[in-house]
Amino acid sequence: MLLTTTINNRKKELLIKDDEYLVDTLRNAGYLSVKRGCDTGACGLCTVLLNGSPILSCSTLSARVQGKEISTIENFPKEAKLFASFMTQEGAEQCGFCSPGFTLTVIAMMNELKNPTDDEIMHYLNGNLCRCSGYVSQLRAIKNFMEAIKNENC
Ligand code: FES
Repeated sequence: MLLTTTINNRKKELLIKDDEYLVDTLRNAGYLSVKRGCDTGACGLCTVLLNGSPILSCSTLSARVQGKEISTIENFPKEAKLFASFMTQEGAEQCGFCSPGFTLTVIAMMNELKNPTDDEIMHYLNGNLCRCSGYVSQLRAIKNFMEAIKNENC
């Protein structure tokens, strides 16, 4: 089938199989930042934004994004670079394999929740697993990132 969608603010027409999952469609189209981890909807590595909200591309049929807007981390170069610097400062960035999906979830959370508590942050991110670093250092990095973005927008 022909999938018509918007990826990173660009209209795309992609020929896909009826039963194809979005992680495959995106990777086949060259969006290699979209990672495949568990492939069962449990790790969050394959997270992308669908109309601004995080979804798991390994368990979303590509046909479901017909006419909708997808964002991968390539759509947020400035935020990704800044967030990576805070993650590095806190020692929370190690292998980096989970970073694209994790960063997209943080961006979605910041758009959805104003001034989230630590518990709300941890709850929002509980679908994004990281095998290398501790979640406490990630939490510090997220809070520093949110503060920096807030100050930038003042
Ligand atoms: Fe999609 Fe793990 S690869 S949730």
